[in-house]
This record gives sequence, C-alpha cells and structure tokens, in this order.
Amino acid sequence: MREDMPIGFFDSGVGGLNVLAAARKQMPEENCIYFGDSLNAPYGTKTDEEIRRLVWAGVDCLLYRGIKALVVACNTATGVAVDDLRARLDIPVISMEPAIKPALEQTGGTVLLMATDATIHSARVQALIDRYDEDKRVIGVPCRLLAKKIEDAVFASSDLDAYLAQTLSPFAAENVTAIVLGCTHYPFVRERILKALGKPAAVFDGIDGTVRHLQSVLNERHLKRPPRGESGTCEILSSRGDETTITLYQRLLTGGTL
Ligand code: DGL
Repeated sequence: MREDMPIGFFDSGVGGLNVLAAARKQMPEENCIYFGDSLNAPYGTKTDEEIRRLVWAGVDCLLYRGIKALVVACNTATGVAVDDLRARLDIPVISMEPAIKPALEQTGGTVLLMATDATIHSARVQALIDRYDEDKRVIGVPCRLLAKKIEDAVFASSDLDAYLAQTLSPFAAENVTAIVLGCTHYPFVRERILKALGKPAAVFDGIDGTVRHLQSVLNERHLKRPPRGESGTCEILSSRGDETTITLYQRLLTGGTL
C-alpha cells in the first residue's frame, strides 16, 4: 500500500537528522528513509549547479528505494533545487523555511539569521525577509564554515567554539532577542551558539513547522500511515557508506550532541 511506503529525507550531511528525529517523534508509525551526503558536505560553499547535481544524485537514491513523499531537510538545497524537484517529481516535496516570521513576531529586538551564504542570498529567503521584516530587524550572518565544522566534529574534531565566537562577536553590542537557525546542521550546536553570543536569546529552527507541514500534506493526500501499534522502520543511508558513519548518524538521531 502507498501509505506504507517510507517518507524520504534528504540533507547534505547530518543536519537533516534533526528533522527526521522530530518527524519520528510526531509520527512514530511512519516508515522513514534518510540520505545524508556527508561525502560532499558542505553544500553552502558550492555553486548552484553543483548543488543541484548533488541533490538530484541523493534524491535519486531515495526514489530508487520508493518513497511516498520527499522532505528536503536542508535549507541550502531548498533554496537552490526545490523548484526543480517540485516540477519534476510526482510526489509531495516538503522543504525548509528559516523561521524568520515567528522570530519577528515573538521577540522585539534584533534577529540574527545564521545560515550558509547560499541560503542567505537565495531569492526565497530574500523574499521572506522583504515580506516580514518591515522594521529591518533581521541581520543575515553568513556562516561559511559552520556546517563543515559540524560535519568535522561528527567525524573527527573541530574548533567550533572559536569559530562561533569569531562569527558572533560583531553583535556583542546589539539588542539580539532571537537567533534563527537557517541551516539544519546548527541545532546540534544550539547551546554552543548561545554561549558564544554571551547573552540570552530565543532560538528558532523551523523544524517543527516543517514537520507540521509534512503531516498536513500527508493527510490531505491520504498518504498517512495508520498507527498499527508498532513503530515504523527507519533506514539510514549516507554517501560515505561505511558502517562507522551509519553508527554516528544513529547516535545523533537518538539525541547525541556535539
Ligand atoms: N543542512 C544544510 C542546510 O540546512 C547544510 C548546509 C551545507 O551543507 O552547507 O543548509
């Protein structure tokens, strides 16, 4: 049955595991399959053409296994490739959107949007800022190396804290009330980001919004798997392919931190 087919999740690496974890919490009955392209991460420093090629290679891997819906669990891939994916696939495609709107509505000061250069400069995100940021409170903070440093920290080690301190030090005098994590990798270092900022701020990651949207799309299209008293399956794939990588992915999926 179509409802029993898995939902496919795609990301440039480990970041989308945050989205998968939230989806499994909200919809434990669903079968899921994840593809992380850690071999080619990060995407944020690549050209649009390269990103599109890599996204299609990963998504093809999921399509080959048979999926009923695709979650592009990567803001960078969303900005560059989601229109193309939607135009060419006949399954629902759910994507990420930086949580700029709730950050502006729920807090009153400066909103730092942390994301890859590709995401910050994408037409989608610029349109979001133009639509909601009437008072010019959003400051884009391009974090060129952060997704890479997070991948490095998963597989070896990395100087994450020094990088975060350097990236956020220009905002020490700003009245920062919110940080929008516009990259699915960043929730793994949420506490370290706040520590580097050095003052309290609300953190928005947009993940719950994406999962709610996924749920409503599955409902509308009659694709929801009915609860059958047992949890759905969860298969993890990575372009790195080795067992150690899959074990590291599993650890992050079940709450492991960096
Ligand atoms: N998780 C990706 C995102 O949400 C990481 C970006 C990258 O690979 O550079 O943007």
